[in-house]
Amino acid sequence: MEHLLSIESMYPQNMVKYIDHAVTLKTRRGEHEEFPLTGQVWALIFSKSSTRTRVSFEVGIRELGGSPLFLSANDIQLGRGEPIKDTARVLGRMVHGAIIRTYAQDDVEEFASFSGIPTINALTDDEHPCQILADLLTIREKLGGWDGRKIAFVGDGYSNMARSWCWAAKHLGFQLAIGSPETCQPPSDFLDRIAAPNISIASNPAEAVAGADVINTDVWLSMGQEGQADKEAQLAPYQVNKTLLKEAAPQHIVLHCLPAYRDKEISEDVLEQHADTIFQQAENRLHIQKGIMARMAKHRVI
Ligand code: CP
Ligand code: NVA
Repeated sequence: MEHLLSIESMYPQNMVKYIDHAVTLKTRRGEHEEFPLTGQVWALIFSKSSTRTRVSFEVGIRELGGSPLFLSANDIQLGRGEPIKDTARVLGRMVHGAIIRTYAQDDVEEFASFSGIPTINALTDDEHPCQILADLLTIREKLGGWDGRKIAFVGDGYSNMARSWCWAAKHLGFQLAIGSPETCQPPSDFLDRIAAPNISIASNPAEAVAGADVINTDVWLSMGQEGQADKEAQLAPYQVNKTLLKEAAPQHIVLHCLPAYRDKEISEDVLEQHADTIFQQAENRLHIQKGIMARMAKHRVI
């Protein structure tokens, strides 16, 4: 049984295989003759809001021949306290795959272990693996790859995106520089667990961006953190704007997983100047997730 629960638990060669497969599916969109989800229903169980993830999975499942079933966690008994392991054992007998967006990473892992069906993490408080794979695909398309590149992440270094980038750097070996205030940096026990000499943390955003080929940011307040005005105030000097980008490599690209809050984590002009890359990055969610589901369906014994 193949799952995608985290970047942490992925083998680097599988990350590259998913990206390779996405390239094929993207090139042949609308023409490919591969419908590995034919006759299958894949459930999307979401406890948090979503535009890109929901739409890209629903469209991707249909394009692969299957049917999506969207379940808002608040509308099913899970929202009234039914345990994850019971929900997993019920759905595992009815649907063929599950895509979960929730808070606790443990909940996705528990679902996977009890359901007996391929399970994909569509964002938790700890990780956003599908986003990272789409971002890597975008870096490959725009820069030819990540080998020898410096990738900077500026903003909330504790966020699911920043911590997922840490695991990607550990697995793939590119240089990752995080620019965050001390209060928003990945915790030291997390960094000890990763123990990757190619990851650096700076409280000076210019230091993180110096010579970077890719500058990445994310919302300052992740879902579930709304209203934390003090955190926004701490992050104000970490906006990705024209002044900060003067430090970057000349042919740099800017990534943002979206949704973007203009003139908070990224200035309006920088977002619009790099919109072509950022919306290509959003589109790549579709292609990468089709590649992931196609591989999982092939490996599945029904
Ligand atoms: N980037 C991303 O996951 O977007 P959504 O929250 O809209 O799904
Ligand atoms: N860090 C953000 C990512 C949104 C796609 C959040 O968790 O809200």
